[in-house]
Amino acid sequence: MKADAQTDRNLLDRSGILPPGFSDEVATFGRSSGVSIFSLRWKVSISFSVLLFMVVGLLFFAFMRYERIFLQREGEKRAQSLALNLAVNARDPLLAQDDLRLGPVTESISQDSDVLYAFLMDHQSRVLYHSDPVKTGKLLPQGVPMPEKGVIQVSVPVVVEEVQVGTAVVGLSEDHIREAVAATAIGLIFPLSVGTGLGLLGIFFLTGVHINRVELLEKAVQALGSGNLQVRVDDRSMDEVGRLSRGFNEMVTQLHMARKLVEKNFKETISALAEAVEAKDAYTRGHCDRVARISLAIAKRAGLETARCMELELAAILHDIGKIGVEEGVVGKLGPLNPDETRDMRHHPEIGARILSPLSSLKKVGSYVKHHHEHYDGTGYPNRLKGEKIPLPSRIILLADAFDAMTTDRPYREALTRKEAFQRINLGRGNQFDPRIVDIFFALADEGYVDAVYGDDPEEAQPSNA
Ligand SMILES: [Fe+2]
Repeated sequence: MKADAQTDRNLLDRSGILPPGFSDEVATFGRSSGVSIFSLRWKVSISFSVLLFMVVGLLFFAFMRYERIFLQREGEKRAQSLALNLAVNARDPLLAQDDLRLGPVTESISQDSDVLYAFLMDHQSRVLYHSDPVKTGKLLPQGVPMPEKGVIQVSVPVVVEEVQVGTAVVGLSEDHIREAVAATAIGLIFPLSVGTGLGLLGIFFLTGVHINRVELLEKAVQALGSGNLQVRVDDRSMDEVGRLSRGFNEMVTQLHMARKLVEKNFKETISALAEAVEAKDAYTRGHCDRVARISLAIAKRAGLETARCMELELAAILHDIGKIGVEEGVVGKLGPLNPDETRDMRHHPEIGARILSPLSSLKKVGSYVKHHHEHYDGTGYPNRLKGEKIPLPSRIILLADAFDAMTTDRPYREALTRKEAFQRINLGRGNQFDPRIVDIFFALADEGYVDAVYGDDPEEAQPSNA
């Protein structure tokens, strides 16, 4: 039990006091940036993915275009070759005017599946032989007709001794070219899909590697915004993020030092105010510190959150600061106060609240100070608040203040024994004091907290039997 009390004494150490709004607790990294579609990770990933699709698409269509042009030229070369072959083979039959031999010559050219037609025409534009029998013998006054769409047509003059005796014409279908291009496109789909998929995975992975550092920096900034000045980020990289991280760490270090300075000044200010109160009433030396320690122990046991506990502790230290505004002859009077002096003394809670009111960070503290003499049954001052309408920290300070006053020597009486003080506290349960606070106080006393603050009680008081 003694060990527990010692531990709590450390908790009660006033060196831990911080101005309201400051926290030494390690803050969480705030809300998670998660996988929002608006996050930088997604924006960069989607941008590079779109770029990848554009590059792959352009390469695909460029390749298909190149292949089509290549096959088109190959088709034209082939048509040219077939037409030349037909012209050479037809030279002799044409010279001999042997039309019967033109048929086999022309048919030998038109055997291949891609050859749509082949025909020979004399110098008078008469079709001597056509692979389509219907067209043999027709006269073509306009010369060689224009090829239909999808046909590669080549015409070659049949020349004998520099005299054109006819024309050989071959028409090839472009269907083979289209089929070859389509087959190539189909063949490319799978490898391109796999390549694009791997590219997308790579983009998301590499984006994650680099953006993750930015996200960590963002979380660190959020943690800093939550008041955590212990946060640091990895700043070993030499790139822009590394420089940004070093700047961030330096900024946090400077903020940490600045906060330490603010804390130091704040503690010194509070201590100076407490000293000013105690200097005015020598009998209350150490009183503020003991009231603060007992009050804080009760508050923690009552479940007050950390921020309110800090405010309560400040209020307990400064609860009698209003006595600065009461005449010294009243505050330091060696004897009971007369009614006028009592009335003057009862102004000290409101004076204290007014003294603290310019300090915006101590607004609640001022409220707790103002009501630290309100009684649970509504008979206190200055506003005769009742029950739960009295701020909980004020109810706690009231009890701790009363107990300390009872157990220390006063100008007009000697200190009560601790047992007598416990009995008086118990008598005030439900009228002067909040019953719940009394119960917590007695529980703490049973556990040795009161002894930890005031030292061992020579009379070994038994508060639970009070
Ligand atoms: Fe007071």
